[in-house]
Amino acid sequence: MVGMRRFEGTDTYVATQDLRVAVNAAIALERPLLVKGEPGTGKTILAHEIARGIGKDLITWHIKSTTKAQQGLYEYDAVSRLRDGQLGDERVHDIANYIVPGKLWEAFEAAEAPVLLIDEIDKADIEFPNDLLLELDRMEFYVYETRRTISARHRPIVIITSNNEKELPDAFLRRCFFHYIRFPDRATMQQIIDVHFPNLKHELLREALTIFYDIREAPGLKKKTLNLRAPRLDQALASRRRVARCAAYARSGQADPTFARGSVEERTGRSPVRAPRLPAPPRTRLTRRCDTGTTRSRHARA
Ligand SMILES: Nc1ncnc2c1ncn2[C@@H]1O[C@H](COP(=O)(O)OP(=O)(O)OP(=O)(O)O)[C@@H](O)[C@H]1O
Ligand SMILES: [Mg+2]
Repeated sequence: MVGMRRFEGTDTYVATQDLRVAVNAAIALERPLLVKGEPGTGKTILAHEIARGIGKDLITWHIKSTTKAQQGLYEYDAVSRLRDGQLGDERVHDIANYIVPGKLWEAFEAAEAPVLLIDEIDKADIEFPNDLLLELDRMEFYVYETRRTISARHRPIVIITSNNEKELPDAFLRRCFFHYIRFPDRATMQQIIDVHFPNLKHELLREALTIFYDIREAPGLKKKTLNLRAPRLDQALASRRRVARCAAYARSGQADPTFARGSVEERTGRSPVRAPRLPAPPRTRLTRRCDTGTTRSRHARA
């Protein structure tokens, strides 16, 4: 890491101490940094901010279910070659003209070590990470068509993100430096909001955070929508009343009929014909749980 700037976060990214240590350690050890964490906790944006923070170029490779490891190295464009052959183009005699470099190749050939983001690696086939072991280890690969070895001029800083949809193979995990981004605590969340919305009213923000963490702590609710990317703030504030009602239900330990209605929609794939009127938050303890069929079907009929 000689001569390399340390990553300390940026003016738009709040990096906790443990995250900074992990990033700098991975850079120093020249290991890919594998980042996991709940949706919206800043895994993808981290690579962008590292590049910005330490003054490097960023190359992003977004992985889909159909992505193959080979595509990151290179692809042979046989269709173009066939077309050029039919048109009598001279280029057709040199196969190198039809080798299309992938993102890894681009990163290996960069004049200065870039940051290479391999985003959402868990979306790909289970073999995908295994197929990149050698390349990420040795930072080189062989192009069979041209009989050429492509080696990294400078070892890129590799950031790999995963949403944990699939287990990653052990051999791959062994080669990575791992960091789990914990969901931000209240103080960190406050800092994150401050960097994005510096002019928010403090009182309003305090109230919103209290409701948010109340709901998050409430037992029995599925923690699905925790995205910090969240709702544009104006939208979030517009739904404040609804959130406050949910929190009231959560605190009272009762079932919130809105959630019950949501589950019916999820199950049937359509909304009820008539939207039920939402009752006021309950004042007495209820014994019925929000995930019981009884509650759901009662409101589905409403
Ligand atoms: N530590 C942070 N500092 C500043 N902003 C943050 C931070 N973490 C998350 N954010 C904000 O949350 C948004 C979502 O982040 P990002 O897309 O990187 O999440 P992710 O973990 O990759 O989510 P997913 O798992 O859905 O891909 C970012 O655009 C950024 O505005
Ligand atoms: Mg992401």
